[in-house]
Amino acid sequence: MMFAVLAISTATGPLTVNGQSVSTPNGHTNSSKQARKKPGNRATQRNAADWWKHAVVYEIYPRSYADSDNNGTGDLKGIIDHLDHLRALGVDAVWLTPMFPSPQVDFGYDVSDYQAVDPRYGNLADLDRLVAEGRKRGIKVVLDLVVNHSSDQHAWFRASRSSRTSPYREFYIWRDGKAAGQPPNNWTSIFGGSAWKFDPTTNQWYHHQFYPEQPDLNWRNPKVEKAMFDVARWWFDRGIYGFRLDAVDTMFEDPQLRDNPTLPEMDAYGEPRQRRIYNVLMPEMHAALQRLRRVTDQYPGRVLIGETWTSKPDELVAYYGPRNNELHMPMYLELTKMPALSASEFRSRIEAVENNSVGGWPTFALSNHDIHRAADRYTPPGMSSDDVAKLVGALLITLRGTPVLYYGEELGMLNNDPTRVEDVQDVIGRKGWPNEKGRDGERTPMQWDGSANAGFNNGTKPWLPVGPDYATRNVASEQADPNSVLNWYRALIRLRHEHPAFSGDYVSVNRNDPNVLGYLRVSSKGTALVLLNMSPQQAQVSLADADVKQVRSVRLARGAQHEASDVRLEPFGVFIAEVDRATAP
Ligand code: GLC
Repeated sequence: MMFAVLAISTATGPLTVNGQSVSTPNGHTNSSKQARKKPGNRATQRNAADWWKHAVVYEIYPRSYADSDNNGTGDLKGIIDHLDHLRALGVDAVWLTPMFPSPQVDFGYDVSDYQAVDPRYGNLADLDRLVAEGRKRGIKVVLDLVVNHSSDQHAWFRASRSSRTSPYREFYIWRDGKAAGQPPNNWTSIFGGSAWKFDPTTNQWYHHQFYPEQPDLNWRNPKVEKAMFDVARWWFDRGIYGFRLDAVDTMFEDPQLRDNPTLPEMDAYGEPRQRRIYNVLMPEMHAALQRLRRVTDQYPGRVLIGETWTSKPDELVAYYGPRNNELHMPMYLELTKMPALSASEFRSRIEAVENNSVGGWPTFALSNHDIHRAADRYTPPGMSSDDVAKLVGALLITLRGTPVLYYGEELGMLNNDPTRVEDVQDVIGRKGWPNEKGRDGERTPMQWDGSANAGFNNGTKPWLPVGPDYATRNVASEQADPNSVLNWYRALIRLRHEHPAFSGDYVSVNRNDPNVLGYLRVSSKGTALVLLNMSPQQAQVSLADADVKQVRSVRLARGAQHEASDVRLEPFGVFIAEVDRATAP
């Protein structure tokens, strides 16, 4: 049948469709169990210092993952209880967004103690147990180091604000106002309003890129650097495998505090937008990050992942460092900003990462706790969000580099945005309503099963409402459905771990097609073709345009059919096959 949507059967053997062998989710499960027993398999790879190049990293927002003590917010025990889900999915590392003690103004991104666990989430013993239970399952734990700012309740800031002569005064950025009642310059906070707050105790202003409760640390003070590097060492010594570094682009500010140029348009909070040339992407951060890399390199296998917003290729290159001596994995976040799927746009951005001049390792993310979920962003009205979820999953997991997968994406979860300002939890959503509704919608509880509150807890009102689709979109029901988004992700991740082509190069093919993104993954041990129809129309790709001589076996497909010299794809169809290349590399 033309344009058949491939039904993935639950049979354990290889499935044959039109004479082509197709791997099934269960087929992969079986083969992966066998593979793990042999030497040289994925488990062995994980022990190597470059484990992260073979890894799928999974982002967990602890408040929203699983609430073991039934108080409405998630916790570390909840994560431990669900490690087997992560094991079955095939992830190799979890990145926990901040679980340190915090007044929770920015839900943990306002840290009041970098060396402890917020009692809402558990305690250090729970974290140690998470590390140990993760290790048993081949899953490493990465924490989120909030380097730009602390909470205003951190002991450093409380001392700093107490007097101009406090030994901690220079841990933060204090200045006199321009005139009475006027901040030192025109900088606006990323979260709206002036980036300066007046503190009457000492009659000076302090700088905050984000909320006033998040005062910026002064990285020009070597004592700040030492204190933060000591924090990093302390966690490395405890078995933490690395950090996602929060908001690195704002670590430094212009020492002369020059005004930013303003733009004609307004931001969501009613202030003129600014070109943040004096308080974002200051070059000094690179030297500081390179010094942090030297600390990290003393601990074999530890990694630095960056929250790195880079609109220009040079900015990304700079984060790798001139000799690949800065961040191992600066996340390429530009794809999260793409308003629609477009093969041409995605192709050119992916190539910019692929061609970075220092040979830095690509790290891709399509969704996170600050961004509308990908299936939500990209599903046109009236079309299936599951089809789009499968397409974006195929992209993320089959690209060269390390994918960072946001929790719930493996279920095809959608945003559940607040409809009334009084329901909003995220402060920027209350300040910016209705232009900016905040980030609650992408942070709703993980959907585990069809019971009350989706199995997030035993019935207490969760801090955010569960998505309205939870009765069917949840781990338990998707596990049982061979065509689910969950089984698709499991099959994709197994394919990536087990097929040698996915350790190989990325070669762009079918380059002139505005609708179908095509690439080969090429290694000496095999080649795979990936075709992704990013359009809501049917499409057809000739194997010649894909540099393919013959298709050996279709490994995964959704809404795609191979016929003689063409592949036909339904809207958002995906075709992944083992192939022979037409031309020699
Ligand atoms: C990063 C985090 C975001 C947080 C901000 C301030 O962008 O991802 O959630 O609000 O930093 O820490």
